[in-house]
Amino acid sequence: MFIDSHAHLFKKDYAADLDDVISRARDAGVDRIVNPGTDLETSREAIELAERYEIIYACVGYHPHEAARCEGRALEEIEALSHHEKVVGIGEIGLDYHYDFSPRDRQREVFSLQIDIARRRNLPIVIHTREAEEDSLGIVERKLTDPNRWRITPDGGGEGAPAPRGVFHCFPGDELMARKVNAWGFYISIPGPVTFASKPEKPNLMAEVAAKIPLDQILLETDSPYLTPVPFRGKRNEPSRLPLIARRIAELKGVPVEEVGRVTSESVRRLFGTGIAR
Ligand code: NI
Repeated sequence: MFIDSHAHLFKKDYAADLDDVISRARDAGVDRIVNPGTDLETSREAIELAERYEIIYACVGYHPHEAARCEGRALEEIEALSHHEKVVGIGEIGLDYHYDFSPRDRQREVFSLQIDIARRRNLPIVIHTREAEEDSLGIVERKLTDPNRWRITPDGGGEGAPAPRGVFHCFPGDELMARKVNAWGFYISIPGPVTFASKPEKPNLMAEVAAKIPLDQILLETDSPYLTPVPFRGKRNEPSRLPLIARRIAELKGVPVEEVGRVTSESVRRLFGTGIAR
């Protein structure tokens, strides 16, 4: 069994066939899906989906692309939504300097304010960072060292391990960055591009990182409808494709795919607390 730790199943892409998408996910052994919002509207939609489908859980938050549109009482509303019983985290939040759809100073501000919501609410965060790694890590590190307490989960991170605080989704970094955020209590999450071919002129960094980082620090995600794995590259993605990612990671690590499913599902449950039923 697998858990898709990050899929956006919104009307915009799935209005016509969401029931089929969900039943294909179940048939493929994907028995939980975490669906993050990207603004107030899609955060509300994520909750509606979580109410309608048992296997869906929601995160609420403003994506960096939408930071410029995060106005007025929007973040208060996000915090209010986070009390819903099927909301398991704040996300997706972060910085995106690749597209720069929102001014960078506003991106940083909205990211930081949402980490504060997560800390008040004792919820984990789902981080998006693209070409902004230095600033993203800087903001997270400052929050870790400021006097306000960050989330401590009831079951902690196991013997001597830090309590899990979040996940760097679609992990963009190298091994060094992965080990750094792991030590801070963050998982790295691996989507479809791990299945892409590695060429001498363009090595697959994500596959290299997935091979080197311990399995118990890795989550699986499809990031549907984006980042479709081989051999469906170019088509709309969906959670039923998650096992292709699990199989590639099993291959890279030389372990059975069942073990990849078991360990990564356990990590999702640990990260998102008791919100995700067994
Ligand atoms: Ni996403």
